[in-house]
Amino acid sequence: MCGIVGYVGEEQCAALLVEGLRKLEYRGYDSAGVAVLGDKGLAVVRAKGKLANLEKRLGESMPQGATGIGHTRWATHGKPSDENAHPHKYGGVAVVHNGIIENHLELKEALISAGHKFSSETDTEIFAHLIQEEIEKGLRLPEAVRAALHNVRGTYALAVVSEKFPDMLVVSKNASPLVVGLGEDCNFVASDVPAILAHTRDVIYLEEGDFAVITKQGVELTDKSGHKLSRGVKRIEWTPTMAEKNGHKHFMHKEIHEQARALTDTIRGRASVEEGDVYLDGCRLDGKLVQRLTKVQIVACGTSWHASITGKLMIETLAKIPVEVDLASEFRYRDPLIDSNTLCIAVSQSGETADTLGSFREAKARGARTLAICNVVGSAIAREAEDVLYTHAGPEIGVASTKAFTTQLAAFFLLAVRLGRLRGTLSAAAAQRYLQALNEVPMLVDRVLKYEDVIKQAAHKFSQARDLLFLGRGPQYPVALEGALKLKEISYIHAEGYAAGEMKHGPIALIDENMPVMVLAPRDSDEEAGVNYEKILGNIQEVRARGGRVIAIHSEGDTKVPALAEACIPLPQTNPLLMPIVSVIPTQLFSYHVADHRGTDVDQPRNLAKSVTVE
Ligand code: AGP
Repeated sequence: MCGIVGYVGEEQCAALLVEGLRKLEYRGYDSAGVAVLGDKGLAVVRAKGKLANLEKRLGESMPQGATGIGHTRWATHGKPSDENAHPHKYGGVAVVHNGIIENHLELKEALISAGHKFSSETDTEIFAHLIQEEIEKGLRLPEAVRAALHNVRGTYALAVVSEKFPDMLVVSKNASPLVVGLGEDCNFVASDVPAILAHTRDVIYLEEGDFAVITKQGVELTDKSGHKLSRGVKRIEWTPTMAEKNGHKHFMHKEIHEQARALTDTIRGRASVEEGDVYLDGCRLDGKLVQRLTKVQIVACGTSWHASITGKLMIETLAKIPVEVDLASEFRYRDPLIDSNTLCIAVSQSGETADTLGSFREAKARGARTLAICNVVGSAIAREAEDVLYTHAGPEIGVASTKAFTTQLAAFFLLAVRLGRLRGTLSAAAAQRYLQALNEVPMLVDRVLKYEDVIKQAAHKFSQARDLLFLGRGPQYPVALEGALKLKEISYIHAEGYAAGEMKHGPIALIDENMPVMVLAPRDSDEEAGVNYEKILGNIQEVRARGGRVIAIHSEGDTKVPALAEACIPLPQTNPLLMPIVSVIPTQLFSYHVADHRGTDVDQPRNLAKSVTVE
């Protein structure tokens, strides 16, 4: 999730671009840059790290010009560095891009064989080469960009400038957001409204495949095939703060609602249903290595540890490799049994968690093969891993992890299918079915979000509780743990997640009318109710028999569980191993609305940090 801003008009634009990028820093901030077209041609200034580094570099020599583009980066391909920062320039063309070019390797190989030299590790630089080539064939900038896009598969929000066509921006959108801003004798483009709200409130939201030529006089909109389009102008009434959250009250709420896109971005280009296999860029796990593995050892903390428990279920079911999951803070001090036939997986959204990094190093020192599942390109844990499987959730600003958790589950599922195929424990046909189910999950997540009002009512009803229990069985047990963590860390209500079968071994003593119990009770699968479902019905009865108040998360169409509950939240059904991605959503929204109702600081809860870089 990078930040793009562009301007064409009559003012000097470098400082305006930087101000716009500052409003987009929440979208990514590992490097930034601007490209400005002026009398002296095309000037590109870039800097690794925070925006302040770019400002410092600009302070030394501010490029002059009234047409320009800027970018703040959230790396997906290529580590954060000056060379990998956008804009990327080739010949007289500069581009900024948000998204992923799926066929970047083949395009890059073809360009290199045609004599092109690349200066970065990014997929984005390919655009500059393709477009410059088309201009050298005699095309105007709009036609050159359109021709280049015909060769590209993937997602993009793209903005392009060229020395040869100095008074225009050419932009196009496919799956990554772009908005055009309409000014007086000037016009803008941005990934998101906050970047341009100081200059205009009149915007056009581009749709899939839209293509725009922007000059200071106006905006010419066409579709993929070049047919003229007209799109309504929207008047933005948000305050700048509201705009950063895209109209959501908190970043956490925005990030809960971003999960379908985050999952799509994490799955895209990796799950091949046609071939019944998975392609994990950045993972060189080959058949020989995988065949000799005797165990997988996962180390993580907090939400990432809950994701890891689900990851264990996925890997053991699909790849038949024994998996151990340890809290990172415990692992390194227990003299763990690790050798060269162990695959150690470190799971960390930030990639900077000290306990996880320390355990990862311990496993590596004992000979383990190391793989990281991370959301931050170039983070400490990612850098020290032999293989990295990145989640593409985009920056997670809310301290309480939400989209990182669901994209970690998707990453584990992809890894489990790949390991199963490499070990021969999963047939191509079975993998096709699993991957088809995975591809449908983002749509199911969006469907659950439509029950938000029901969830909000339940949250307000129980927001004054002093304690709350979350119960789940099988794949739903880690979701119970995660739901309890979400509630306690943002609402400060004491909450515990428990394996439902454990109730009779002690916790049931806590049950009375003052102890609400949220039960994760979906059917085991489409085909059958299943043993976990049957058993959890009994657990719900045990709670009710002692006066406990039940909040049930159940399968759509189920009548048995709702009949036993005071509040009911329906769920669409999918494969039991993927159900946690769907069933965690109501627990996230429940915790969010309880905390919001109680007035706590949802995005920055007391005592917590987004990344715990101390032990
Ligand atoms: C979860 O909501 C918390 N923010 C916390 O438990 C977090 O998951 C934990 O600190 C691990 O962080 P990491 O994924 O960045 O390593």
